[in-house]
Amino acid sequence: MEFARYYKGAFVRAYVWVRQRIIPLEEIGAHVPVRGLIVDIGSGCGVLANYLARRSRTRNVVGLELDPHRVRRAQESAARVPNLSFVAKDIVKDPAIMHADCLLLVDLLHHIPPPAQTILIDACATRLRRGGVLVVKEVDPADTVRIGITWLLDKLMTKGGRMWYLDRRRLEDDLRERGFRVEGIRVRRALFPHYLLVCRR
Ligand SMILES: C[S@@+](CC[C@H](N)C(=O)[O-])C[C@H]1O[C@@H](n2cnc3c(N)ncnc32)[C@H](O)[C@@H]1O
Repeated sequence: MEFARYYKGAFVRAYVWVRQRIIPLEEIGAHVPVRGLIVDIGSGCGVLANYLARRSRTRNVVGLELDPHRVRRAQESAARVPNLSFVAKDIVKDPAIMHADCLLLVDLLHHIPPPAQTILIDACATRLRRGGVLVVKEVDPADTVRIGITWLLDKLMTKGGRMWYLDRRRLEDDLRERGFRVEGIRVRRALFPHYLLVCRR
């Protein structure tokens, strides 16, 4: 499934084409329930949300995103998809999240400062419905060569913004302290040190 065609504008289409090849969509999707409310926090242009909503129409997928330009592009892509919507929201200023069957934090945590990371993880722990799953995708700073590539791309995409990459073991411990059973999965990609944490309670 190619998602770029659902977007308007050559630049956004090119970005979506690339992003679709970077995010481990299938590996993430394998852990997302096929029905219920799925909330993608920091949804960007909505590539993952599109993938999940188009794969299963019994999922109600909602993307929350800070950047209003990305929200508009994502909303355009969802125009004909009734189970997909996007809302502008700064999760740092307003960490309240709706009760959900699945919460997704895909390459978001390292873009927000540590105190806000902690508040967001707490919010996820309290807002996940019984039997639900929290899926975190991050990049491993211990992989010193490939984290450099990620850092360069992050700097370009955020126009020089700051990143706070998380120590994987510490993040796993933080999630366990909140009552999650955590399954760590390393995702094989040539250029990026991706890992997934699949967290259930
Ligand atoms: C690296 S991108 C990942 C986007 C998407 N999850 C994906 O995998 O394509 C990080 C996203 O988080 C968003 N973001 C950063 N800080 C945020 C905040 N405080 N509230 C909501 N979204 C935020 C950024 O605007 C950006 O779109």
